[in-house]
Amino acid sequence: MNEKNNSRPMERNIAMELVRVTESAAMSAARYLGRGDKILVDASAVNAMRNVLGFVRMDGIVVIGEGEKDEAPMLFIGEKIGDGTEPKVDIAVDPIDGTTLTARGLPGAISVVALSARGTMHCPRNFVYMNKIAVGAEARDSIDINAPVAENLKNIAAAKKKKVSEITVVVLDRPRHETLLRDIRNAGARVKLITDGDISAAIEAALPETDVDVLMGVGGTPEGVLSAAAILCTGGAIQCKAWPRDEKERADAVTRGEDIEKVYKTNDLINSDDVFFAATGVSSGALLRGVRYFSGGAQTQSIAMRGRSGTMRWVDARHNFEKLEKLDIEKYVKERKWAHS
Ligand code: FBP
Repeated sequence: MNEKNNSRPMERNIAMELVRVTESAAMSAARYLGRGDKILVDASAVNAMRNVLGFVRMDGIVVIGEGEKDEAPMLFIGEKIGDGTEPKVDIAVDPIDGTTLTARGLPGAISVVALSARGTMHCPRNFVYMNKIAVGAEARDSIDINAPVAENLKNIAAAKKKKVSEITVVVLDRPRHETLLRDIRNAGARVKLITDGDISAAIEAALPETDVDVLMGVGGTPEGVLSAAAILCTGGAIQCKAWPRDEKERADAVTRGEDIEKVYKTNDLINSDDVFFAATGVSSGALLRGVRYFSGGAQTQSIAMRGRSGTMRWVDARHNFEKLEKLDIEKYVKERKWAHS
């Protein structure tokens, strides 16, 4: 988004409100855990997320959403969300990062939303994929996406006062990572392969005292920006570089005058400390516990982060469906004329 943001720093911690958004999406989608239907998983999360986002007091524009308007009825890029009052924000959503994980009942799916001050979120969306490297605060000055893998691992290990053999790299399990995996293993580091969900993996890498030290490899571009929002809050760093899938994608980008070699650092993706991030576990994983239903309700676990303060909160919630239904959320939104799109 190009609109310049001139507003004051945001005093309100909107991340606390965003937790309700991701909780709602997670509880909705987790009903379809293991039922083999990715479309149902995504649709239920999108619907629930859009409803609750309408409650958040803001003048928001979706920068990362479900796609262009003609292909996404809700949470499309450019959609306005909120009541139109301050703060002016850019919104990034991934109602489910790990739709396949959820559909297959596998661990590690989360629901994610991030906000930042208007005009500060940048998604190089002409590229479906980006190559990424992400670490936590201790190693934030030790990464260089253009350097050889072994050099990055040596520098990260030194920054974390560990041996390279004590460093664990989380990598999406994809054929495209054959060379990367060989390089990591040759350098003597440990590897954690995941089948999906590189936002969760990037956050894990950026948090202290987790099982992994660094995320490496190629994943979705929107996921890279959402990861940057969370990583900015942790004080860590991410670097991304466009990863054209084939010669045509590369040639098209060159024709458009795009710089394929550009390295997007954390601040190139989110250029503000006024950034808020929330995620809720859908299926239990290394970062968050998934949704657990009980008679009449559910338990959720979320993480809420704010860039300016650097505060990270883990939020365990118990939801009472009977009482929630009585709140009749949609009617309330309509009466208050919230959700002005
Ligand atoms: P979805 O939930 O949209 O399926 O994305 C899951 C994911 O694993 C992301 O976390 C990751 O960035 C991307 O897919 C990788 O893409 P691909 O599966 O095409 O390699």
